[in-house]
Amino acid sequence: MKTSFQVSALVVAFFCTAPQLVNAAPEPARAELRAKYDLVQGKKVYENTCATCHSSGVMDAPVFCDITAWKPRIANGMEVMVKHATEGFNNMPSKGGMETLTVAEAGNAVAYMVDQCLTH
Ligand code: HEC
Repeated sequence: MKTSFQVSALVVAFFCTAPQLVNAAPEPARAELRAKYDLVQGKKVYENTCATCHSSGVMDAPVFCDITAWKPRIANGMEVMVKHATEGFNNMPSKGGMETLTVAEAGNAVAYMVDQCLTH
């Protein structure tokens, strides 16, 4: 009984440190991003609209490729991040304040940011 407790504790410890595995396996996520989103357009949207806050961290915006700031957000998945980017989230204005953006364009910008961060 004691041994099996120790074994399960080890298993739990393993899974709790598993976020490190995210570093080891970003490739499938990137392949999916690249298949699903237009990253070239996303880059333009990012530079025109999102960089205002995300390049500097104004208003506590997670800074572009500050992996510590992005990791927990990325862990929520693209769907949640795109929803927050299009509908707004705390100090994050909906569509970065650019109401003419389509949901697809905002999604492309999120994908661009995430894809760039995964390469670092
Ligand atoms: C006026 C400043 C500002 C602009 C412009 C801006 N953001 Fe943000 N963004 C923020 C802030 C602040 C947060 C942090 C919100 C929080 O977590 O409380 C944030 C968070 C986010 C997040 C993380 C959401 C999550 O689920 O944790 C994403 C994704 C995002 N922004 C995408 C974008 C995109 C895409 C654009 C351009 C279309 C953009 N942002 C433009 C301020 C901005």
